[in-house]
Amino acid sequence: MQIGPYQLKNNLIVAPMAGVTDRPFRQLCKKMGAGMAVSEMVASNSLLYGSEKTKRRANHEGEVEPISVQIVGADPEMLAEAARHNVSNGAQIIDINMGCPAKKICNVMAGSALLRDEALVAKILTTVVNAVDVPVTLKIRTGWDKANRNAVQIARIAEDCGIQSLAVHGRTRACAYMGDAEYDTIADVKQAIRIPVVANGDITSPEKAKLVLDKTGVDAVMIGRAAQGRPWIFREIAHYLKTGEYLPAPEVAEIRSVLLAHLEDLYDFYGEHTGVRVARKHISWYTKGLVGSANFRHAMNQLQTVEEQIAATDEFFLAEDGLAATNDRLIYKEAA
Ligand SMILES: Cc1cc2nc3c(=O)[nH]c(=O)nc-3n(C[C@H](O)[C@H](O)[C@H](O)COP(=O)(O)O)c2cc1C
Repeated sequence: MQIGPYQLKNNLIVAPMAGVTDRPFRQLCKKMGAGMAVSEMVASNSLLYGSEKTKRRANHEGEVEPISVQIVGADPEMLAEAARHNVSNGAQIIDINMGCPAKKICNVMAGSALLRDEALVAKILTTVVNAVDVPVTLKIRTGWDKANRNAVQIARIAEDCGIQSLAVHGRTRACAYMGDAEYDTIADVKQAIRIPVVANGDITSPEKAKLVLDKTGVDAVMIGRAAQGRPWIFREIAHYLKTGEYLPAPEVAEIRSVLLAHLEDLYDFYGEHTGVRVARKHISWYTKGLVGSANFRHAMNQLQTVEEQIAATDEFFLAEDGLAATNDRLIYKEAA
């Protein structure tokens, strides 16, 4: 998979997820085998550039290349300015979000709401592509609603405007996250254009990644929710695509050490107050399905300090490890 001058090490991409794909998570997924990770969306409103949140989202220190930053908005000039601003802060690829169904975003005609206005899409893409000398990529849904699946049309516009790679989430805006993602429209998009196409939506296992690659002929797959608390999914998929064989699930001891290192990164990145809060959802994802995890998660949400959070996590995993030793492997049983 090639995006402009960047040859990715494989065809597995971490989906942008606001509140999730911060620098610590992107780095971890890359370490665990992802070929690229797209940042959380960054507002295109320059009034927000100085805010703590926006500054943190634009922090790429030590991040493995290529650094892809997603911008969101509806005004071509503001998006162009946001693209320039992020490139001057280290972005090597600019990704434009036309896939987000969130009300907050769609009410201002940004995210997936833009798919309704093809002329505006063309104007935005041309303006941003001309504003920066790094590759610009686009992320869309299959259309506005099931009666208006215009992904193929948008894909042609994107290619004509100089977009260098297109990710398609196999749902319409109206579908939000309901129902199953469909891949037929993504296959049609792949047929219609020559730039790389990335399939996204409900890819949760090595077999599903292979099935989607085979069915659609796309160049890469993008994985979002399935990587939450499971960053090793990238190495599992990479191994399966290469060999046709499954890697064994990680042992409890490995999950513990990956999670503890992830927590340290979160505390470093956000500081104690925010770090402890951001960490709660990750801890909850990592421990989902492990014995006793429901009670553990409840207790975890009361803890306020780094020391307490680490000690509780450690204690939980040491108890799990004892069980694992008697039980051979005990990963992802039904939640107790
Ligand atoms: C918590 C969360 C935050 C998201 N934030 C963004 C975002 O900032 N930009 C974007 O383009 N998509 C965003 N998405 C959509 C994902 O990138 C992806 O398209 C969607 O989750 C489907 O892929 P999956 O089934 O692999 O999760 C978000 C999804 C989730 C669950």
